[in-house]
This record gives sequence, structure tokens and C-alpha cells, in this order.
Amino acid sequence: MSRKIKLGIIGAGRIAHVHAKSITFHIPGAAIKSIADPYMTKEAERWISDFNIPNLSKDYRDVINDTGIDAVLICSSTDTHAPITREAAAAGKHVFCEKPIDLNISEIRKTIDAVDKAGVKLQVGFNRRFDHNFMALKKAVEDKTIGDLHMIKITSRDPSPPPIEYVKVSGGLFMDMTIHDFDVVRFLSGSEVEEIFAYGDVLVDRSVADAGDIDSAVVSMKLKNGAMAVIDNSRKACYGYDQRGEVFGSRGAVVTANDTPHTGIFFGENGVVAEKPLHFFLERYREAYINEINSFVESIDQDSTVAAGGIDGLNSVIIASAARDSMKSGKSVKVLY
Ligand SMILES: NC(=O)c1ccc[n+]([C@@H]2O[C@H](COP(=O)([O-])OP(=O)(O)OC[C@H]3O[C@@H](n4cnc5c(N)ncnc54)[C@H](O)[C@@H]3O)[C@@H](O)[C@H]2O)c1
Repeated sequence: MSRKIKLGIIGAGRIAHVHAKSITFHIPGAAIKSIADPYMTKEAERWISDFNIPNLSKDYRDVINDTGIDAVLICSSTDTHAPITREAAAAGKHVFCEKPIDLNISEIRKTIDAVDKAGVKLQVGFNRRFDHNFMALKKAVEDKTIGDLHMIKITSRDPSPPPIEYVKVSGGLFMDMTIHDFDVVRFLSGSEVEEIFAYGDVLVDRSVADAGDIDSAVVSMKLKNGAMAVIDNSRKACYGYDQRGEVFGSRGAVVTANDTPHTGIFFGENGVVAEKPLHFFLERYREAYINEINSFVESIDQDSTVAAGGIDGLNSVIIASAARDSMKSGKSVKVLY
């Protein structure tokens, strides 16, 4: 690393804390200069102080207009991502934007155009691309360990549903949760989804239906490279965060299991008991979150291409939107980009 990259963070909630901690303790090539949130909590003020972040503001414009900052991490609520990304790009800042860029496809296109026009980098927060298990699956496809790719299977289940207030503004399960899995399918296959069929229902909590969403889904896809993919989602797996993947091809398959706190197994007279999966995304993807911000910082330092860019942010939302259309119509849908 030729110099320390100076970062600003917009939003001081859950995911901002994750990234701030990664940068402070694990990314020597970067430092956080400022953070802004109009609704800064006492808890946020505490960790901002613990991490020695020198500047706090209620106004994100203080961050994007700071000439001493190279790049911003947009970690605020989803509805703010696209406009703040455009403003930050116009101010000459590289942008790391949490997923999704927006729920509206034309807003995303407008944002990508603004970033291209400004000539800055845009990385989207698809952390699973930086996870050791998904990277192993990707390698098995790329180096042809499994021969020609025929199928991808993703199981992605949360340990418990989010609060109903969150569900109401989330954009729905496909936009909020499955979006990561759609990106994983694109990442592993190196291809785009051509056609999609989605079932969705409320099997966990009826109040989710009142909020206009679903909490369980099965999605099947035909990819442009001829392979097929299946994703299953649930908002509640009683045994914890279930994140498994499989790539299957002409010469074999690679299957990944869940990460657990340790590999100790209890053998007793009534059976055998292993540890539950790591509790949720903060624990399971801790290393992936560090890797993704490190990769963003390196791409700025080396002026190289980001590992998850605007097109990845756009196409995952297009696929999520097609999944929603398929569920509503009960028919398979051609995905148009
Ligand atoms: N990649 C992942 O794994 C992952 C995980 C969690 C959340 N996310 C995404 O990150 C975003 C934030 O999620 P969260 O869980 O941290 O939510 P959160 O509610 O904990 O934090 C969001 C913060 O943004 C602040 N905010 C709102 N408007 C703002 C503005 N104009 N300027 C500055 N700050 C503003 C809020 O006050 C709040 O503190 C969401 O878009 C979510 O989809 C991604």
C-alpha cells in the first residue's frame, strides 16, 4: 500500500459499526476521518470514540465535501443510497455502497451513469463474494475441478425474522435477503440469469403477510451459460443462520457446510450433537466484511477494478424484481436487463 486511504462513513448503525471495526483493527492501509448520521445514538457515539474517529457530524455533506477524504462508505438506510452515491461521486469521492443501491431500477441506472461520468469507483456491499466458502466454490467452477458447471444450490436461512417495521421498508424478501443469493449465483456461475420461477409464502409469522411480504421462498433459475440454479430462503431456521452452497458439474460437486463456533462433537448414549451454525451474519461473515473493505481500499490504491461493481448491484435488483413478478403471476419470467 503506497499511502493510507482516508475514508468517511455515512450512517452510524449496525453495518457501519461492522465496517468501522474492520477498518480500525484489520485494515492498516486505511483510516476513518469522519462519520455522519443525523440520528446518532449514544451507543454509536461510544464506538466512534473507542475507534478514535476524529470527526462526527449530523450532515453527510460534511463527509462528502471534505477534501481530505478519498472515499465514502454509504451505510445509511436503503432509501438514501442512490442520491448520496450520486452526490459523493460528483464531489470526486470513490464510493462503497451497501446493498441494495436502490429498490428502483431506473434510479440504479441513473446512479451508475453518475459514477461513470465522475470517473470514480463504485463497489457494492456483496460481502459473500469475499467469504472463504463461496470463494472455494468459485475456484472449483473456475479451475474446472467440477468439470462443466451444471447446477448451483444455495440454502440461505436466517435464525429469526427482522422486526416488522424493518420488513415494511425492506423492499421485500427478494430485494432484501435473496439479493445476496442472486449475486452469489451470478458470482459462482460467471453468468446471468435468463429465466426465473419463484414460489413464496408466509410460513413463519402471519404479521409478515399484513406487511405485504413473504418469509419463505424457493427460486429456480435457468442461466445464460446453460446451467441451472436453486435458492431456498427462510426468515427463521430454529437452529441458526444456515448458509450452505453447492456447485455440481460433469466431474463432481463441491458442497460447503455451515461454519460453527468449534468442531467439537458430543457423543452420548442418546445420540451425537454438534454445534449450531454461527449465530447470524455479523458472526458468520466477519472475515468476509474485512476482506470486502480491504479489497475496496486496494482497488483505490492500485487503481484496479472493484470486485463487486455497479452492474452487480443493478443486475441483482433486476433479478429480484423478476422473482417478485414470477411469484405474483405464478409463471416463469424471462429476465430482461
Ligand atoms: N451487506 C450486508 O450484509 C448488510 C447487512 C446489514 C445491512 N446492510 C444494508 O446496510 C444498510 C443499513 O443497514 P443497518 O442494518 O446498518 O441499518 P441501521 O438502521 O442500523 O443503520 C442505518 C443508519 O443510517 C442512518 N441514516 C439514515 N438517513 C441518513 C442520512 N441521510 N445520512 C446519514 N445517516 C443516515 C440512520 O440514522 C441509522 O443510524 C441497509 O441498506 C442494509 O440493506 C447490508
